[in-house]
Amino acid sequence: SVIYLKDYQTPAFLVESTALRFELEEEQALVRSQVQYTRNPDSADRLRPLILDGHESLELHRLSIDGEVLNEQDYRRQGEQLIISELPDSFVLECVTRIEPQNNTALEGLYKSDGMFCTQCEAEGFRRITFYQDRPDVMAVFETTVVADKQSYPVLLSNGNNVDSGEEDDGRHWVRWQDPFPKPAYLFALVAGNLEFIEDQYTTASGRDVVLRIFAEAKDLDKLDHAMLSLKRSMQWDEQVYGREYDLDIFMVVAVDFFNMGAMENKGLNIFNTSCVLAHPETTVDTGFQRVEGVVGHEYFHNWSGNRVTCRDWFQLSLKEGFTVFRDAEFSADMNSRTVKRIEDVTLLRTAQFAEDSGPMAHAVRPASFIEISNFYTLTVYEKGAEIVRMLHTLLGEHKFRQGSDLYFKRHDGQAVTTDDFVQAMADVSGRDMTRFKLWYSQAGTPRVAVSGEYDAASQRYTLHMRQSCSPTPEMETKQPFLIPVAMGLLDQHGRDITLASGNTTEVLELVSTEQSFVFENIPVEPVPSLLRGFSAPVKLSFPYDQEQLVFLMQHDSDGFNRWDAAQQLAVSILQKLITDYQQGSPLVLDNALIDAYRLVMSDVSLDKAMVAKVLSLPSEAYLSELSDEIDVDAIYQVRKFVRQTLAKALESEFLSLYQSNCSGDSYSPDAASVARRSLKNLALSYLMATERTEYLALARDQFAQADNMTDSQAALSLVAHSVHEQAADELLEQFYQRWQNESLVVNQWLAIQAANTREAGLQRVEKLLTHPAYDASNPNKIRSLVAVFCAQNLPNFHNLDGSGYRFLADQIIVLNKQNPQIASRLLTPLTRWKQYSEARQSLMKAELERIGNSGDLSKDVYEVLSKSLAQ
Ligand code: ARG
Ligand code: ZN
Repeated sequence: SVIYLKDYQTPAFLVESTALRFELEEEQALVRSQVQYTRNPDSADRLRPLILDGHESLELHRLSIDGEVLNEQDYRRQGEQLIISELPDSFVLECVTRIEPQNNTALEGLYKSDGMFCTQCEAEGFRRITFYQDRPDVMAVFETTVVADKQSYPVLLSNGNNVDSGEEDDGRHWVRWQDPFPKPAYLFALVAGNLEFIEDQYTTASGRDVVLRIFAEAKDLDKLDHAMLSLKRSMQWDEQVYGREYDLDIFMVVAVDFFNMGAMENKGLNIFNTSCVLAHPETTVDTGFQRVEGVVGHEYFHNWSGNRVTCRDWFQLSLKEGFTVFRDAEFSADMNSRTVKRIEDVTLLRTAQFAEDSGPMAHAVRPASFIEISNFYTLTVYEKGAEIVRMLHTLLGEHKFRQGSDLYFKRHDGQAVTTDDFVQAMADVSGRDMTRFKLWYSQAGTPRVAVSGEYDAASQRYTLHMRQSCSPTPEMETKQPFLIPVAMGLLDQHGRDITLASGNTTEVLELVSTEQSFVFENIPVEPVPSLLRGFSAPVKLSFPYDQEQLVFLMQHDSDGFNRWDAAQQLAVSILQKLITDYQQGSPLVLDNALIDAYRLVMSDVSLDKAMVAKVLSLPSEAYLSELSDEIDVDAIYQVRKFVRQTLAKALESEFLSLYQSNCSGDSYSPDAASVARRSLKNLALSYLMATERTEYLALARDQFAQADNMTDSQAALSLVAHSVHEQAADELLEQFYQRWQNESLVVNQWLAIQAANTREAGLQRVEKLLTHPAYDASNPNKIRSLVAVFCAQNLPNFHNLDGSGYRFLADQIIVLNKQNPQIASRLLTPLTRWKQYSEARQSLMKAELERIGNSGDLSKDVYEVLSKSLAQ
């Protein structure tokens, strides 16, 4: 059934306190909850019953009110709810449930991961533990006692501070935790296992000493230093940039190998997917180090933006996620290269979020309805949500934005609030009316902005004409105009910024109506406009640049992001023309403009190496797909390959000297400059390998043999594995596996490299890997590495016209639908885009969607995505 934002009702009862006792055993867990309820004074209706959420898997052993046991006629259990009527205004409800964590394959609620108990309660996992008002606007202080066998589970953790512990006669022990900060159930966490930890400490700005502990299995203890460093940097950054301090005496992070998402910000006890917390030079690539830093920051920042101030209901998810993604992006930008971080984020937004916005699951950042909230942990809520916060930052400026943030935290500390409340704080400090701005939260779809320029030499006047539009999305046919901040500048004939009337070289234009013109006076020559600097709004902006103008912007724009973007636009236009040639059967000839532009960039010593690597990377297949009206898989794949090869041959000697000059004997460090150097070196190697010349195979093999770090080793492996040199590929893959078979995360990379191999018979290779001892069909990280990578990154094999790729994916989804609905539903994404492919592929994809639909009981997760996909 569909849940609507407009139906929101306050809870009938508030919770004063929640006491939990967990008896953990091998075959079951017994959970006793004692909850002090009081009727919500908000509610006029004194007859409203207490509605508790409880998953069907809960075995109810006992229910009592103020000590009086309830009989079956005293309550109603109906679907996911347990309803109790005729209650006093204040009472204690005690509830005992029995659950089986060892059989919980959905990885929601309390489950076991590699012999350790752990929890994932966001969004609605707590209802798999006990009966409770499992909604974010019910906040309570928690006390948790965990009892388990001491030998198997020496470490027992929950939220807050450790207040007591003891031993029992039968080899069991217990620990009691108290969390003084009221929180919703989704922030509850428990961990029990045989874990070790590293410890450090942090003194907050106001002098509070905080113990920092990161827990993992003993074998991973040497991979926690980077996370600890990142944590301390996050704590300091949040104090400096937002004035936010940590508030408990201890902050804990636990690494688990079975996890549906990246990580979870449970109060005082963050739980992380191993892939987002473990890092070691020998086993982790540079982007992995950066990911750990970003995710550790993200979860830490949630302590304020999410925990101290949380969401009223799940439609407001972006309140905490959009804001926190913005915060973690700024943190990463401050720790590394700001421009490169922006390029990476915008690339993700433009490929994946824009695709979501134009597909059947398109939804507003604050959706109006959902069937299963897990389906809304999306790029739209997270990344586009962060772009909305960034626009507020752009519109208000650093100083006012900080004032707004301070006001928001002050006003709402300890509350569960809405995105409107967030914007209101920004409106109040700036004195701005934010009514139109808020449409960003309620209207789905990617706005298009078409811009043209007009220069009148006689009056020295330059005018920008802008026109915005937004295509219909599933729940909304027509859209009102958005408030679109367009940061821009004008370049003179030498490529220098012209000083505008405001005295600045960059101005933020506010496009608020369908059509609007902006006039610039005293412009001595016809300028080249630099538009949407820093990607100041999540829109598709177009301006009729010619090739020369794009190359000019690439060389001269003072905005680093736009320099990169000009190169992208140039490459896109050339690739798109070739795609048309390919479709018409014309011979492919690469325009010299791209070769020349690449040569220019390689010789520009003023550029940061990471920037050069970004500029020299062709737009991805996924981005080219997103830009297509009809996705021609074969054309995109062949043309991109042709362009890579042609560039490689034309610039061979340049790439070789780029490679050589960026090899270094220094020992590994994940600092920004070293990461940049390695990214440029490995990019050069990838072009050299694209020439298919054997001497470069030798170069790659040398790098593989000599690398002292995973970045260089994996780059070489993946290039050889995907090359025409099949025998060398098999040899290196085998060597790599032999060396790293005991490192689960490295094995995932090994699986992913093979899954992405576009050589013929890719599906057969993937199917063989499904039965390899390295694979585990119950571990989400393995599923993502093999199945999801194959479907997203192996264009020719997944989209094979015999339909085998689609059939394979559907088979996987049918199994996972029962086992782990969240993962099953995520895997559906490539099939949901059926409408964008040729007719032959459309009918094959649709047939598989229908087969999934007819395969039996569908989880809510899969049902929602499937039905919306078929309805388009
Ligand atoms: N709040 C977590 C984070 O963004 C993600 C939790 C995801 N949970 C889910 N059921 N999808 O840091
Ligand atoms: Zn988050």
